[in-house]
Amino acid sequence: MIFSRASSAPRWTGIFLLLSTLFALFGPAVMVKHENFKTCDQSGFCKRNRAFADTVASTSSWTSPYTLDPASLKFKDGQLSGTILKSLKDGEEKVQLPLTITFLESGVARVTLDEEKRRKGDIVLRGDSKARKERYNEAGNWALVGGLETAQGAVLSEKVEEGYTKVYYGLGRLQEAIIRHSPFGIEFKRGGETQIRFNERGLLNMEHWRQKVEKPVEEKKEGEEEKKEEAETENKEEEKGEDESTWWDESFGGNTDTKPRGPEAVALDISFPGYEHVFGIPEHATRLSLKTTRGGEGSYNEPYRLYNADVFEYEMDSPMTLYGSIPFMQAHKKGSTVGVFWMNAAETWVDIIKSKSSANPLSLGIGGHTDTKTHWISESGLLDVFVFLGPTPQDLTRQYGELTGYTAMPQSFAIAYHQCRWNYVTDEDVKDVDRKFDKFKIPYDVIWLDIEYTHEKKYFTWDPLTFVNPQKMHKHLEKRDRKLVAIIDPHIKNTDNYPVVDELKKKGLAVKNKEGNDYEGWCWPGSSYWIDCFNPASITWWKSLFKYDSFKGTGPNTFIWNDMNEPSVFNGPETTMPKDNLHFGNWEHRDVHNLNGMTFHNATYEAMLERKKGEIRRPFVLTRSFYSGSQRIGAMWTGDNLAEWSHLEASIPMVLNQGISGFPFAGADVGGFFGNPSKELLTRWYQAGIYYPFFRGHAHIDTRRREPYIPGSPYIEIITQALRLRYQLLPAWYTAFHEAATTGAPIVRPNFYVHPGDEKGFAVDDQLYIGSTGLLAKPVTSEGKESVDVYIADDQPYFDYFDYTTYQGAGHHTVPAALEKIPLVMQGGHVIPRRDRPRRSSGLMKFDPFTLIVVLDKDGNAEGSIYLDDGETFDYKQGAYIHRRFSFSAQYKSLSSSSLNTKGAKTDSYAKTMSKVRVEKVIIVNAPKEWKDKKHVVVSEEGAKESARRKKVEFKYHEAQGKKAAWAVVRDPKVGIGRGWKVDFS
Ligand code: NOJ
Repeated sequence: MIFSRASSAPRWTGIFLLLSTLFALFGPAVMVKHENFKTCDQSGFCKRNRAFADTVASTSSWTSPYTLDPASLKFKDGQLSGTILKSLKDGEEKVQLPLTITFLESGVARVTLDEEKRRKGDIVLRGDSKARKERYNEAGNWALVGGLETAQGAVLSEKVEEGYTKVYYGLGRLQEAIIRHSPFGIEFKRGGETQIRFNERGLLNMEHWRQKVEKPVEEKKEGEEEKKEEAETENKEEEKGEDESTWWDESFGGNTDTKPRGPEAVALDISFPGYEHVFGIPEHATRLSLKTTRGGEGSYNEPYRLYNADVFEYEMDSPMTLYGSIPFMQAHKKGSTVGVFWMNAAETWVDIIKSKSSANPLSLGIGGHTDTKTHWISESGLLDVFVFLGPTPQDLTRQYGELTGYTAMPQSFAIAYHQCRWNYVTDEDVKDVDRKFDKFKIPYDVIWLDIEYTHEKKYFTWDPLTFVNPQKMHKHLEKRDRKLVAIIDPHIKNTDNYPVVDELKKKGLAVKNKEGNDYEGWCWPGSSYWIDCFNPASITWWKSLFKYDSFKGTGPNTFIWNDMNEPSVFNGPETTMPKDNLHFGNWEHRDVHNLNGMTFHNATYEAMLERKKGEIRRPFVLTRSFYSGSQRIGAMWTGDNLAEWSHLEASIPMVLNQGISGFPFAGADVGGFFGNPSKELLTRWYQAGIYYPFFRGHAHIDTRRREPYIPGSPYIEIITQALRLRYQLLPAWYTAFHEAATTGAPIVRPNFYVHPGDEKGFAVDDQLYIGSTGLLAKPVTSEGKESVDVYIADDQPYFDYFDYTTYQGAGHHTVPAALEKIPLVMQGGHVIPRRDRPRRSSGLMKFDPFTLIVVLDKDGNAEGSIYLDDGETFDYKQGAYIHRRFSFSAQYKSLSSSSLNTKGAKTDSYAKTMSKVRVEKVIIVNAPKEWKDKKHVVVSEEGAKESARRKKVEFKYHEAQGKKAAWAVVRDPKVGIGRGWKVDFS
């Protein structure tokens, strides 16, 4: 830890300096410290459930001990409820597990299983624990925001086999849930075909509450009888064949977890018959199509782990946990996408195996010969699973978004370029960096301050020696409409004369240890406390800290970065908090761990909304840790990557995976956080980074400066071109963000999402589509490349973005990619909006005119759209936006713009502010030959004066040359971007 982190403890300074010098000389010693993180075998509940899976697999006569009691079943208003009985080995006792299966209006089904005894609080906690007794049942309060209306149309089937209950639900009641009573299991069908099975392999396991039988302490003379009795009870457990060695206290890395509720894991096998690919469950540094974890070619040895953690120098190609968790998985095959959302916030492991398919052979494509089977294991909480039956990838992202929320529409600056490093060391340094960007004519929007800006790591303060005049620094940035992001972490320094820590303690808002006292641990400031954002009072207090008159030196253009919110605790087990710590409501940290980062991020978001009365602007808060729902709050990045080619390569599938998992505002540190990238790597990283929805350069404190103006010629020019390309396409990006914010569609999309029928492309994860624009980018992610092979899935023509070279035909196409060339092609059939005037920041482009690139498909048609609003406020919710559809029709030989707006109170006033903003150029790629001699086109615009109603506009045609497609330009049609108009090419 100490090596990479500028510890504030003076006694480490010498060692730190020496080590950093060595580090700088020899480059990063790149190795994750495996010993700091548990394997499945070291995590008792995972070990138990994996062992259980092995026992089940090797016992031919195995029957799952869970039976649905038919007498308990009730069906009312789209919900089936009943009780599952778990038989214990002695055959007498049965554990009662209340079950509900809720059929939602959206076509999604939700299966929830609880434990009666714990629900009633009818259990005894060990030790003096103050922990809650129930299984954690509040994850939905944080993760869910809608989509829970129950389906009035869901009906019980009248005709069913004995021992089964069947419910028809979903659109046209084409979906079925067939519930087998004994052993309990569910089969989900769509269109008569099985898509998902629960408990097919019999791995359902709700670890019921039991009392610990304390082992006899010592040989006693007196009370001999008592000892004997205890030993007997213990033997009874052992007779039942259960290994209780991991049920109770568990130690790891010097910390003992007291587990006051004993074993409480919940596990289930979920099978996807006929599905070869599964995607999702970020965050892992792995491929998009998830590998198997228990055998098979290239299999991992460990399950995918979801336990938010600060993993120092994380490794590539690994199922190890990282900073955030989204337990949403999609299974895909030709013609069908289905999925599950395992809503549990405790430590979770997921095993994946693949086997020869048992599914209906008639419905199978190439991939359909395989079944994917998964095994989900969580340490505590309810079993609470949402089941999605698709059938398209778009259905999945929309329905998951209805439940957990769509991406927040960001301010427009937030999708431009961000410049960060640990650290810009003074306010003068910030201004100097800013001036250099201008000197080199490189666009950028935001400069970031890491922890060193604070006074001795006390958040909400400025270092008085280095950041002498933050207000002046702000004024300087505002000249070019630039912003500042400052870091605020959740650990609060334990020190004197720091009102923030005094208030935190006085108000009782810190996370508590197992004894119920304020938990004290170690992070950047040294000894610290952690704000508990599960507590509504913490949010209220947090809001007060961000007011401009409280956090002095900040203003409307200051935004926030939330880091270390897993939470990262340097001296804690697995670099985080002990699991028996307590949060608001006395929930154990164990139950809520994966939600923790989101609650902190949420508190900051809320605070940003209330910095000044009457000032309502969209917050921007970056987070490192996340859970399902974090997309509603801000952006994420993939944490501390390395300045190595392999990390650049991995960033593409990681960002794609975030997109299909509902949190698309994602990016990786451009240049790599640890280490010094070569100039080539840095350049290639910028060329890739322009395709991250969240685009930020960042570097560790020990690295050399590497702002885009540093690497010398020709790198500066090449990086500048890349940045300009991002800025030129900002209108297309903003439109893609709007789509994400309204439909849940990813901002950058993998091949399978765009071409769900193209089996050969399902696993392609090294290229990406930007929104619905048809722009397809394939970043160069290895050294010394002169070309890349772009995978094309369909029979449309694709054109090089810069010179219109045509590529057509499904398969791989070699596209030139020398260092100065960014491989980017445009799929035929789209209209792409952009702004061509280079500016210093996106704010300065606000009223710039547009260029439309009309890329005709093989039949000569194209469609596209643009979304625009003020880029700052929430007025768009009252109609203050422009949303247009552009269509080029081969039949009518015209390009037209029509409105997609829904009129609201502020539609007209916004349209007025944009009335002078025009389309200054239309470029038609793949222009038909018959336009060869054309010199003019006729333009008509809605609401134009009579004289201008049908005006002639200059037109120029450029013939095809070799593989380069013909193209044409309409020069300055002067039509309003927010108006209806038509360009007639006949
Ligand atoms: C860890 C973050 O991942 C990194 O980006 C940041 O620079 C350091 N913390 C210091 O705040």
